[in-house]
Amino acid sequence: LNVMVNAAKKAGRAMARDFGEVEQLQVSVKGPSDFVTAADVKAEKLLKAELTKARPGWGFLGEETGEQKPDEFSDHRWIVDPIDGTTNFVHGIPHFAISIGLERAGEVIAGVIYNPVTDDLFWGEKGAGAFHNDRRLRVAGRQRLDQAVIGTGIPHLGRGEHGAYLRELAHVMTSTAGVRRFGAASLDLAYVAAGRYDGFWEHGLKPWDVAAGILLIKEAGGFVEDLNGKANPLFSGNLVAANEKLITPLRDMLRKANA
Ligand code: IPD
Repeated sequence: LNVMVNAAKKAGRAMARDFGEVEQLQVSVKGPSDFVTAADVKAEKLLKAELTKARPGWGFLGEETGEQKPDEFSDHRWIVDPIDGTTNFVHGIPHFAISIGLERAGEVIAGVIYNPVTDDLFWGEKGAGAFHNDRRLRVAGRQRLDQAVIGTGIPHLGRGEHGAYLRELAHVMTSTAGVRRFGAASLDLAYVAAGRYDGFWEHGLKPWDVAAGILLIKEAGGFVEDLNGKANPLFSGNLVAANEKLITPLRDMLRKANA
């Protein structure tokens, strides 16, 4: 964890400076609403260098540099998103984060999510709990969906392909106390762990968006499941999260939307 927090804070200092000069950054577009900035690439290089220096031989899966082959690393692997919420970053919205998960054999065992502008640090380790700065996290205790606030992300799809998602959204909007869409999945998951959101769902996420957040929610007493079945949500990227009472009703509601 020390290694992860130190790397996140070091990369975060440079990123906060880049955020202040965001108009001058080179931006390229990978797909619809999918930006990559010079700051993403720079931050991932720095994170990779710091993490690899501290733990030579461990694997690395990063949004910008991709994946090492399994036979190139031991059973530990860093899963890193240098800037989760790049669209917010590019638009001067201070809601984005560095996300670092540590995976061992398919399971995340430590996670750090750091917003360098607000200096919010969410962190946790398997069996040791999840924290926001110094405060221990617990998922919300709400028992009823009609009193719950649910976070979501809008999937990156082509024009005319959002029908299924919009049906889910309509169900959740009309059956809960409200829906929020802030644009950084790692922070969305941290908000579930912190009890700010009662639940969250999104389709099509990548391991680097969710690795750290999954660990935080579990350590805060919550549940993260695959939306469609029993797949590992770390790799399926279609996930729903909530407390023990709300996870099944929320998942059922999402499934029924397209039944
Ligand atoms: C994105 C954010 C966003 C989510 C997208 C992700 P990026 O990550 O987490 O909230 O809706 O699906 O791709 O691309 O900014 O690292």
